[in-house]
Amino acid sequence: MNQRTIIEPFKIKVVEPLPFLDRGERERLLVEAGYNLFAIPAKDVTFDFLTDSGTTAMSAAQWSAMMIADESYAGSRSFERFEAKVRTITGYTHVIPTHQGRAAERLLFQALIKPGARVPSNNHFDTTRANLEQLGAEAVDLVIPEARDPQNRHPFKGNIDLERLEAFCATNRDRIPLGMLTITNNTGGGQPVSLENIRAAGAIYRKYGIPFVLDACRFAENTWFIKRREPGQGERDVHAIAADVFAAADGCLMSAKKDGMVNIGGFIALAADTWLLQLRAMLILTEGFPTYGGLAARDLEALAVGLDEALDDRYLEYREAVSRYMADGLNGAGVPTVQPPGGHAVYIDARALVPHIPPHQFPAQALACELYRAEGVRSCEIGSVMFGRTVEGRFQPAALELVRLAFPRRVYTQAHFDYILEGVAEIAANVKKLRGLKMTYEPPFLRHFTARFAPIS
Ligand code: F0G
Repeated sequence: MNQRTIIEPFKIKVVEPLPFLDRGERERLLVEAGYNLFAIPAKDVTFDFLTDSGTTAMSAAQWSAMMIADESYAGSRSFERFEAKVRTITGYTHVIPTHQGRAAERLLFQALIKPGARVPSNNHFDTTRANLEQLGAEAVDLVIPEARDPQNRHPFKGNIDLERLEAFCATNRDRIPLGMLTITNNTGGGQPVSLENIRAAGAIYRKYGIPFVLDACRFAENTWFIKRREPGQGERDVHAIAADVFAAADGCLMSAKKDGMVNIGGFIALAADTWLLQLRAMLILTEGFPTYGGLAARDLEALAVGLDEALDDRYLEYREAVSRYMADGLNGAGVPTVQPPGGHAVYIDARALVPHIPPHQFPAQALACELYRAEGVRSCEIGSVMFGRTVEGRFQPAALELVRLAFPRRVYTQAHFDYILEGVAEIAANVKKLRGLKMTYEPPFLRHFTARFAPIS
């Protein structure tokens, strides 16, 4: 592999100024926002690592493809290009466009799920879980035990536990309308799933006659990790590896806002036509005609180009380097992160960094606020604000207290990351002074989006 600095494999044609605020202004904004970073206006965020979803910088090739889009209601030329690209990459015949990933989830699950169903995966993403639960199904997580230890360096920490999967399928066969795998495993830290594990899971699902659908929104990053880490895959072309990944399943759900390299879009792709008529009927009812599915044709054009750009060795090498560079830099400054770094994000282990703040004072939220206050960095708490519960008056903390820095694709440069790391070293040196938060407003559900906090004096 390349021994020199891994550089951004692009030059920049369109730029947007970064907002610069001082610490006092950011402190004032934090008070107004009730110490909830979702309530901070984006214009006041210097480095926005809230999500890698829909935040990609598109290429000149994508923007120019958008200009030649065919916005016909039915049978548009742009749909043909998009459909052909998805078919080539996935090998699946049937392609159903949707406006984003959760729309694909809702459509597929409405067709397949009845109350009492159980759906296994490594880890279901929040929206996948919510869409299943909304239909009365149970979303069952069967990731390998190594995934629960932030310091374990298993190369494929997104793998599903095959023994538990086999036992689960054997016991619940009649209640499992589909089996899933999330690649990469976002909930578990953006960790990849090996080709061997995908194939073995596929074999188990097949043995029990269970359709196997991938949540493939970061399939290109997962493919790259297979190439880099899996014995025998290092010399193979990423397209060939991706084709093998998809061939192990019967179809996929895709939020194209990640490895589709676009700001909006998604799809369902399927090998067989079993559910097709039903899915298309629902698509027309709720998303749009089958050749645009809630998107403009220009979005389909951008996506057709973006899928190719995501499966490019130089891009993927750079993409992996971003989170590794940040993880190494943070670790060097004494800030522990979930190991190994994932594809799209780095997760700071707040419990290890600020052990003096107990879970009921939301250590990861306090740290996320400090990253904003000191550096203008917006991150996302994945800890006791998001997953903690109060049961019969007793606080139950989340399993881990994490702060996720998710990196938009092709947006920030290495100098930006160096600048942030310089500041993080200062935060780490003074971290003992950081105080916890108390929740002053608790919404009834999905509380992390709108909860409000105040510092504990
Ligand atoms: N599946 C996974 C693994 C995801 O990470 C997401 C979105 C979705 C499905 C839903 O897709 O947003 O297009 O409806 N993840 C974003 C994130 C929101 O920040 O991790 P969507």
